[in-house]
Amino acid sequence: MGKALFITGTGTDVGKTYVTGLIVRKLRQAGLNGGYYKAALSGAIHDKDGMLQPGDALYVRHVAEMDESVKNLVTYVYPEAVSPHLAAKINHRPIDFDKVKSDFERARGRYDYLTMEGSGGIICPLRWDNQQHMLLDDLIKKLNLGVVIVADAGLGTINSTVLTIEHLNARNIPVAGVIFNQYLPGDYMQDDNAFMIEELTGVKVLAYVEKGDKELKIDIEVLKGLYS
Ligand SMILES: Nc1ncnc2c1ncn2[C@@H]1O[C@H](COP(=O)(O)OP(=O)(O)OP(=O)(O)O)[C@@H](O)[C@H]1O
Ligand SMILES: [Mg+2]
Repeated sequence: MGKALFITGTGTDVGKTYVTGLIVRKLRQAGLNGGYYKAALSGAIHDKDGMLQPGDALYVRHVAEMDESVKNLVTYVYPEAVSPHLAAKINHRPIDFDKVKSDFERARGRYDYLTMEGSGGIICPLRWDNQQHMLLDDLIKKLNLGVVIVADAGLGTINSTVLTIEHLNARNIPVAGVIFNQYLPGDYMQDDNAFMIEELTGVKVLAYVEKGDKELKIDIEVLKGLYS
């Protein structure tokens, strides 16, 4: 059974998939068996044959040069660009925790370093019906995962990153670190953002990803150490 790491973000569209692609690529280029999994993807696009395409998984598979059937990479795929709990309700296809757990465990069986991408930010309802109330952080806790937070390096990130870390702390979910995305080297405010997040939470900014980066600048041993 391989090790795993959960990637959340300070919100939707902050670059979780982009950064995850670089992480899995780095592991694989180091000769390690790195893989990807996502429980629920909404906002999927129909291809010309009318099939729903899970964009995040296809992107990571491409960047990380993985050879894997997409159906093994994502369990629930919905077309509506709304929270998974709402997309699931619209499609009458509720997210079943046991199914996610078994797909996750299967993925972990195939890979030594499995990176699981979340949906949205840390407060993301996955299921809200008569039978079950499940948030994303419930899932992380049940799967016993540690978390890396992808945060935009720019203005507002002290608030969103510290709130995310405090929420994870309150839920007793281990936070392995933060990765700054869309970082502008030498920008005094962005450097101070990293400093203040570390000061206020004790959590380190582990890596800085610039616009268009093709490689993740992080020591491979540090990266491996994030997985548990
Ligand atoms: N460092 C970067 N350089 C260039 N483009 C980036 C970078 N980071 C993110 N993007 C682009 O920004 C958009 C949003 O990023 P991404 O899809 O990774 O966000 P996300 O957090 O995974 O979103 P979601 O919540 O939908 O899963 C994408 O088009 C992605 O290619
Ligand atoms: Mg994504």
